[in-house]
Amino acid sequence: MANGTVAGMTGEAQLKRVAERDRAKVSLEVDGTTVQALEGDTLLTALLTNGKRLRESEFGDGPRAGFCLMGACQDCWVWTADGDRLRACSTPVVAGMRIQTRGTPWPTLRS
Ligand code: FES
Repeated sequence: MANGTVAGMTGEAQLKRVAERDRAKVSLEVDGTTVQALEGDTLLTALLTNGKRLRESEFGDGPRAGFCLMGACQDCWVWTADGDRLRACSTPVVAGMRIQTRGTPWPTLRS
């Protein structure tokens, strides 16, 4: 798979940048593929500027892209490679993050 192309996220991006395009670039890994975001982006922005969807629904009803974009609806859960659950709309990107958007446990149970 080409760098910056995430399975299920191909095609035109859901979001397009119209301002602040000169911030520093940050690389993160999404479902095993390296993608670029800009410093200060939320995970939701990073994912939706790289593809059409944010994650797959845990209820089997297809791709999701977030709804409220302000931490209230819980439609934007993604997981770290370590299994921690994050709200993509309220989590800033950090260089080197490893994020999973599909095939993750729901809810995440940790001892
Ligand atoms: S999009 Fe609603 S909580 Fe993140």
